[in-house]
Formats: sequence, structure tokens, C-alpha cells
Amino acid sequence: MNLKGKTILITGGASGIGLEAARQFLAIGAKVIITGRNQAKLDAAKKAHPALVAIRSDVGNEADAKALFNTVKELGGIDILYNNAAVLVAPSNLGIASDKHAEGAAYEMEVNYIGVIRLINLFLDMLKSRNETAIINTTSILSQAPSLIEATYSSSKTALAFYTTSLREHLKIIGSKVKIVELIPPLVATEMTAERKDKKISPEDMVKGLIKGLSKEQHVIRVGDAKLFNLVNRFLPKTAFKILNPQKDHQLLKK
Ligand SMILES: NC(=O)c1ccc[n+]([C@@H]2O[C@H](COP(=O)([O-])OP(=O)(O)OC[C@H]3O[C@@H](n4cnc5c(N)ncnc54)[C@H](OP(=O)(O)O)[C@@H]3O)[C@@H](O)[C@H]2O)c1
Repeated sequence: MNLKGKTILITGGASGIGLEAARQFLAIGAKVIITGRNQAKLDAAKKAHPALVAIRSDVGNEADAKALFNTVKELGGIDILYNNAAVLVAPSNLGIASDKHAEGAAYEMEVNYIGVIRLINLFLDMLKSRNETAIINTTSILSQAPSLIEATYSSSKTALAFYTTSLREHLKIIGSKVKIVELIPPLVATEMTAERKDKKISPEDMVKGLIKGLSKEQHVIRVGDAKLFNLVNRFLPKTAFKILNPQKDHQLLKK
């Protein structure tokens, strides 16, 4: 898929992987609309990249999603819906069998899963009516095997991964040409992973991997170590589980 000339809506595009994607997409010649909850972050992104259209909108809020759809329609619509925004409730706030655990899980599901479905429902007819369109859903290697310290985030991404596969197959059955892409990043150096000391790739390399995958028409784009992890998980699932849940994390679980 060639991104030049396409209009791309990136949720959560004011920082992290989303902002880097906006930067690289603009450089290719795409038009980019970003969303986020924090107006100051959106203003800073717009200042750094004046060609961006920045709209304050919370993926977890139904009224915001509808307003976003109407604004985007007035602006001329989109060719690609890139569902990038997600939340991860810090593991330290998620003691098992506590009210906080359930609250965190509900919040993660609302943004990472329900919110994505809501946007897809709103934008699907628009995408069906145009040529060469796509939906990109961002999951994680944690959607393939569970992380014990990020169990609820991990589960929200698994829900999204299953939904993404189902949507792709459903659209094939009804003869729709909208491409459904699952993006599986490895560990990337962003605010979301700031507390993790493990090996990370840069958002720049992450987005280069995404663009390469799109240019090769891949339906599932695994970037960096996500490729190796997939093989390990397939043939040595116990090893994959141990990679995601090293002994050092067990201390956190005992707290
Ligand atoms: N970093 C990694 O290692 C990694 C690995 C695997 C998968 N991923 C996935 O990759 C995507 C991007 O991650 P990231 O590392 O770039 O995260 P990040 O640094 O935390 O950035 C997330 C962005 O999403 C926005 N956002 C959060 N909640 C939102 C909401 N309800 N509505 C609209 N915008 C919202 C945030 O801005 P505001 O706070 O201003 O709204 C922020 O700009 C996520 O789906 C994440 O799960 C990341």
C-alpha cells in the first residue's frame, strides 16, 4: 500500500509511536490527522509539524468518537484509520483481587478494545466507499502470550487481536476490499515503557517497520523482535512465557 496522497487518522498521535508515525507519513506525502486527550500535547505536535490536523478526542468516550467522525467527514474523510491510542494501567496499581484491579481492567478494555470497535463502526462505511483503504489495529506481543504483571493490558490486546482477525475474515466474506492490518510492535522506547529497563527499539525504527510492512501488503506486521517472539511462541510456548515473565518480575507479583 502506497501512503502518498492518502489521508490517515492516527488516534493517540500527539506522542510516542503515533507522533513518529505522523512525522514519517507526512514526509511520504500523506495528509495526517491526529487525536489525543491532552490539548497541550496536540498543540506541541501541531507546532512541530504545522501540516498536521490535530483534534482533541478521547477514544474511550462515545460522544467524542461521534464528534470526531463528523469533523473528519467535513474535512473530506480518510483512507486509513490507524488505531494507535491505548492505555496501560501501571502494574503497581493492579493488585489482584482488588477494586483497583477491576477498575484498571475496565478502563483498559474501554480504550484499547471497545473504543477501537466504536471507531471502526463509525468509519467503516466511509472506508468501504473509497479506493485502497485500510484499518490498522495495534496489538502487542503481549496479545500472544500473557504478561503476569500487565495481565489486564495483555488481555485487552488479545481481545483486539481476535477482533482484528475476525473483522478481516468477515470483510472478505462480504467482498469488501478494506485492508485490515494488525500491527505487532516489540518493546518500543516511549512514555508507556519508560519504567522498563529491557531492550527497546526507537519509535523511528518501529514506524519504518510499519511502513515497510504496508508497502509489502502484509496483513500482520511484526516489527523487530516481535517476529522472533512469534516463532518462539509457536514452537516453544513455555519459553515464550518465560521471556515475557522473567524471575525479576516475580518480586512485583509478591507485593
Ligand atoms: N511502547 C511499546 O513498547 C509498545 C509495545 C507494544 C504495543 N504498543 C502499542 O502501541 C501503541 C502506541 O504506544 P506508545 O508506546 O506510543 O504509547 P504512549 O507513549 O503511551 O502514547 C500513547 C498516545 O495515545 C494517547 N492516548 C492515550 N489514551 C488515549 C485516549 N483514550 N484517547 C486518545 N488518545 C489517547 C496519548 O496521548 P494523551 O494522553 O494526550 O491522550 C499518547 O499520545 C499503543 O496501542 C500501545 O499499546 C506499544
